[in-house]
Amino acid sequence: MCGIFAYLNYLTPKSRLEVLDLLVTGLKRLEYRGYDSTGVAIDSPDNKNIVMVKRTGKVKVLEEAIQEHFSAGDYSEPVMTHIGIAHTRWATHGVPCERNSHPHRSDDGNGFVVVHNGIITNYNDVKTFLAKRGYEFESDTDTEVFAKLVHHLWKTHPTYSFRELVEQAILQVEGAFAIAVKSKHFPGECVASRRSSPLLVGIKTKTRLATDHIPILYGKADDKKLGPDQDSDSGKPQVLPRSESTSEFMPLEEKEVEYFFASDASAVIEHTNRVIYLEDDDVAAVRDGTLSIHRLKKSLDDPHAREITTLKMEIQQIMKGNYDYFMQKEIFEQPDSVVNTMRGRVRFDGNAIVLGGIKEYIPEIKRCRRLMLIGCGTSYHSAVATRQLLEELTELPVMVELASDFLDRNTPIFRDDVCFFISQSGETADTLMALRYCKQRGALIVGITNTVGSSICRESHCGVHINAGPEIGVASTKAYTSQFISLVMFALVMSEDRLSLQQRRLEILQALSKLADQIRAVLKLDSKVQELAKDLYQHKSLLIMGRGYNFATCLEGALKVKELTYMHSEGIMAGELKHGPLALVDDSMPVLMIVLRDPVYVKCMNALQQVTSRKGCPIIICEEGDEETQAFSSRHLEIPRTVDCLQGILTVIPMQLLSYHIAVLRGCDVDCPRNLAKSVTVE
Ligand code: UD1
Ligand code: GLU
Ligand code: MG
Repeated sequence: MCGIFAYLNYLTPKSRLEVLDLLVTGLKRLEYRGYDSTGVAIDSPDNKNIVMVKRTGKVKVLEEAIQEHFSAGDYSEPVMTHIGIAHTRWATHGVPCERNSHPHRSDDGNGFVVVHNGIITNYNDVKTFLAKRGYEFESDTDTEVFAKLVHHLWKTHPTYSFRELVEQAILQVEGAFAIAVKSKHFPGECVASRRSSPLLVGIKTKTRLATDHIPILYGKADDKKLGPDQDSDSGKPQVLPRSESTSEFMPLEEKEVEYFFASDASAVIEHTNRVIYLEDDDVAAVRDGTLSIHRLKKSLDDPHAREITTLKMEIQQIMKGNYDYFMQKEIFEQPDSVVNTMRGRVRFDGNAIVLGGIKEYIPEIKRCRRLMLIGCGTSYHSAVATRQLLEELTELPVMVELASDFLDRNTPIFRDDVCFFISQSGETADTLMALRYCKQRGALIVGITNTVGSSICRESHCGVHINAGPEIGVASTKAYTSQFISLVMFALVMSEDRLSLQQRRLEILQALSKLADQIRAVLKLDSKVQELAKDLYQHKSLLIMGRGYNFATCLEGALKVKELTYMHSEGIMAGELKHGPLALVDDSMPVLMIVLRDPVYVKCMNALQQVTSRKGCPIIICEEGDEETQAFSSRHLEIPRTVDCLQGILTVIPMQLLSYHIAVLRGCDVDCPRNLAKSVTVE
């Protein structure tokens, strides 16, 4: 999920110290992506070993450690050809610590070392397979299995090339990854690949490149699974088919060349503007200074080559990709982040859900007196958003509490309560205090956090990591939708064995499988939302109304507007209109209403009529093609239809976009709103 940087110099003399310098600079350029630990690997001066330095914390800490580590020994002698790899880690498997930092190694001798971004979901199976063959693991990461798997394949297939070994290993792993591998046994070579996580190759040559394309080569390998027990009986390693290069082979041949492998262009742009963006399942290998790109399976729509793109952007621009702000980038990341939250947990084919972090506690949770969901700000809203579904699928009383108010009230807590603490950072002071309060009283403590190794994660009995990836913008966006999905998954787990709820569960699971595409569709409303923002940004106030499953969106939308634009905004429960808020409505008050075709549709239409009859002219968020509702206003945003309990994910996105655009129009600092901090660690 975070950053990879690798540097290979071929016939371009560089001392190891210079290489380290390049690696550290590369990591610094990737820092903005968020991370919790770092590491590098280079060759030892005698070329007989690989030296690794890893640290938790900032790249600066790594830099100091490197200075210390490499002050002795001959690291200033230039080497003609060398490959160094580096990593910034955002822990998903195992707490952030030196032992879990990358690179990870295959064996004591550092035969193969690997940096990895993403999650290998079947790592437990691979681990079992390797453990039976005597491999011992030294970290809690999923990544380590990859290094050891390559080593196992190398032992059993001594004639395989480095690239073939990595290809074979890739065939055995599932999940999302970008990887770069370095090996003592294949000096001067680097193999890198990706699936879902981004990776590009930068090429720097003295003279202009002779080609704009790197042809794609195909292997013949098929993906027989190693399976945990497949070959344990015979003890014989499974013979995997080798891939073979085809006659189209037309490598990029340069005498002196430098290659950069990086998660994004910000890390390479200061060295070269010639890059190849790798596609899923591409395997890029450099051997004897020659880069080749392989694919394991031929597909009809594959192009024949990967294009070498010329970057024309400035570093600053590249860091945020095509986005102006991190918040905007994170809003647009949601089709991917929601998938990452479900990755390895939801099996759409078998309709099964496993939340490894709370699995063992489910029987205890099922016996509880009530569920309490506790959080602050956006995290609290994710609890509001999922409360109804939790009540429906767990058939338990569900209380939703703001951490600060909960503590003020000295709320009674019992041993048979199950308390959820929701926090992106896992460090939110109010939430943490509430956690300690409940823990003292003997309740079961469940964390819902985005940050492995955070205080809430450590102090909770169990929990779910939302795996949304680092969130940099102070105003939370993708963490909200991932918290939402984590709680929905919990509800689905709780109702697994309830016969009467199976139809409902199926409906939700099917909707979850379509969610990423539907989010993509909602994001296409961006320019329309921007136009609406132009109508709204000079106003003093914005009322956001809805009810049922969409009430949380009103609260969250209003919070986004407040924190980003400093404009007054209020999320109003539509059922409360005539009990007060209706007095605010006139022909000049901006109003936004969420009216979807769900069980509260008629009631929402009622509210809509109450507003329009007071000359209010609301912006309506409604379902695609719902002309009846659209007839009430000239301004509406249409979102795709999904199951009622997931609507909140699709309706919150226009609110995120709207607050973003209003903030930009009002000249506010989108990523760092005034008076606010990303992680609120004080009460
Ligand atoms: C976990 C492991 C992962 C492994 C998977 C399958 C981690 C971070 N995740 O993922 O190595 O692939 O099992 O075996 O190592 N927890 C808390 N409080 C929180 C959040 C989590 O105590 O707020 C605990 C959980 O109870 C669990 C651990 O942290 O013990 C990991 O949680 P999570 O990453 O959600 O579990 P899995 O998805 O199963
Ligand atoms: N899953 C790996 C780990 O936890 C890689 C995380 C990352 O992308 O940085 O170490
Ligand atoms: Mg814990």
